[in-house]
Amino acid sequence: MKIPFNKPSIIGNELKYVEEAVSSGKISGNGDFTKRCQAFFTEHYNLRQALLTTSCTDALEMAAILIDVKPGDEIIMPSYTFVSTANAFVLRGANIIFADSYDWHPNLDADQIESLVTNKTKAIVPVHYGGMACDMDKIMTLAAKHKLYVIEDAAQAIDATYKDDYLGSIGDLATFSFHETKNIISGEGGLLAINNNTFADRAEIIWEKGTNRAAFFRGEVNKYGWVDVGSSFLPSEIIAAFLYAQLEKLETIQQKRLAIWNQYYEGLKVLSNRGEIELPVVPEYAANNGHLFYIVLENLETRTALIEHLKRSGIYAVFHYLSLHKSPFYEHRNDGRALVNSDKFSDCLLRLPFYYNLSDENIDSIITQIHHFFAK
Ligand SMILES: Cc1ncc(COP(=O)(O)O)c(C=O)c1O
Repeated sequence: MKIPFNKPSIIGNELKYVEEAVSSGKISGNGDFTKRCQAFFTEHYNLRQALLTTSCTDALEMAAILIDVKPGDEIIMPSYTFVSTANAFVLRGANIIFADSYDWHPNLDADQIESLVTNKTKAIVPVHYGGMACDMDKIMTLAAKHKLYVIEDAAQAIDATYKDDYLGSIGDLATFSFHETKNIISGEGGLLAINNNTFADRAEIIWEKGTNRAAFFRGEVNKYGWVDVGSSFLPSEIIAAFLYAQLEKLETIQQKRLAIWNQYYEGLKVLSNRGEIELPVVPEYAANNGHLFYIVLENLETRTALIEHLKRSGIYAVFHYLSLHKSPFYEHRNDGRALVNSDKFSDCLLRLPFYYNLSDENIDSIITQIHHFFAK
């Protein structure tokens, strides 16, 4: 038996649409499938504007350009996140001010943010870990009070909500990922949501290499040229065609993923009741989108031993982020504050195999193997 951590699936019209894109005679970016994907997002998730990108990393880099980050600006974000969340701003000269997670959840602790705000702070970047919402009311109130931008890193948060609002529709800007490990996939892929209208025109220009090409093709200007900084942030129609087919199956995918999540939760509850592991806690203001399933072990040694135990049965479970404030790249620039909860999740959090075609039998054998580990 071999159960990988992730396995991408074709679920509907992916290959048919890729073929259609090629036959249409246009496979560069911003064609018909790109527009259909963007319309899907604005309509379903109440976003003002949506631009497909080649990754969430790219969408974050666009966000940093849009809010005009300058050297010395400070950006507040959790230390427990992926390198791209920080890199996008570091590339423009920002200093990253890392906040700790809650002890009960990897999301950044909203009550700690205000003490980190200075007159150099430009933005807060909440990361919705596992697609579970950060405390957005607190974050948006604080941002309004100090005139800061909010950029939601919603890489994992498609189809998830905070109270009645979809994640990605709350901050000034938000970024999504369609990397092969996400709920909706296109291999690599991403999206920038623009909810603050002041960014609308410039976003499209930065997306198209700093030109007003998109406005030209809509007939709004009679020639196009270099009007701003930018890069090639838009994906080809082949990516967009694949993605659109996945979006058509969103409901089916989400139902399946939530069923997987619930099967893990039910099967492992008894270990949590016995105090052997911590299970994910869905904050009361958040709706679960079935993005990933994690358990938290007592310490690093137990996690390493469990990873090895599962591997011997062909099961590939993996840890996740490593605290960025302690990374070889950033440690010497960090201000020395201890972020104990971020370190706890770095050392002790373990993600279990999670993908659309994961069978009930496979989930049961993963649960059984975890029980065996603790029975020893
Ligand atoms: C929180 C977070 N932000 C950004 C990214 C980058 O996403 P992408 O691989 O689409 O660039 C990831 C990657 O998984 C992530 O976990």
